[in-house]
Amino acid sequence: MILALLKEQTRLQHKRLETRLDLLNRTSSLDEYRVLLERFFGFYAPLEWRVLNTIGSARLDFDFNVRRKTPYLQSDLTSLGLSSNQIAQIPSCENLPDVSTVARVFGYLYVAEGSTLGGQLISKYFTQTLGVSADRNGAFFHSYGLGTGKMWREFGEAITQFADTSVSCDEITGTAIETFEKLEHWLVPGAN
Ligand code: HEM
Repeated sequence: MILALLKEQTRLQHKRLETRLDLLNRTSSLDEYRVLLERFFGFYAPLEWRVLNTIGSARLDFDFNVRRKTPYLQSDLTSLGLSSNQIAQIPSCENLPDVSTVARVFGYLYVAEGSTLGGQLISKYFTQTLGVSADRNGAFFHSYGLGTGKMWREFGEAITQFADTSVSCDEITGTAIETFEKLEHWLVPGAN
C-alpha cells in the first residue's frame, strides 16, 4: 500500500530527474562519470550522517549500515584516483531533505533504495560504455547486484510494517518528494 502510494506520488519527480539528469547520454567519459559520483557523494555523505543520527535509538527492522551508499561511492572514487583527502574536500549539499523523524527517514530511504532498481540498468550501461564493473569503479550503481530484488523486498516489508503502525503516510511521501526535488536541484543546477 505505502509502496504503491510512494510510486504514484513520486512518478513525476522520478521522470523529471531521469530526463534532466540524462545520465546515459551525458556521461560518456570516465572524467564525467567521476564528476557525477562526486556529486552523488556530496549529497549522500552528509545526509546519511543525519539519517544515522535520527535512527540511532530507533529499532528498525533492517540494518541501515549495509544500505549506506557512501562506502560504495568512496570505493569508486578511490579507484578512480582520488585520495582520502580529496574525497573529504568534495563539496557537500547544504539544502538537504529533512530526515529528522523515522517517518521522514523512510521517505528518504524509499528514494535511495528504489534507485538501486534503476541502478541495475545504469550499471550494465556503464559497463558497456566505460568498462566499469562492480569491483572496478562501478560499485555505486551496481550496489546490491544480484541481491537487489531481495533487498528491495525486505525494505518493502519494513516500510509497510512501519506505515501500518503509524499515521505518518504524508510525512513519508512528502519526504520522498522532497528528496527527489532536492537531489535534482543538486545534480542538475539551474533545472528548477
Ligand atoms: C538515468 C537515470 C535513471 C533511470 C534510467 C532509472 C530507471 C529506473 C527503472 C527502470 C526503475 C524500475 C525498475 C524496476 O521496477 O525493476 C526505477 C525505479 C526507481 N528509481 Fe530510477 N532511474 C534513474 C534514476 C534514478 C535516480 C537518480 C533515483 C533517485 C536517487 C531513482 C529512484 C528510483 C526509485 C525510488 C525507484 C522505485 C520506483 C518504485 O517501483 O516504486 N532513479 N528507475
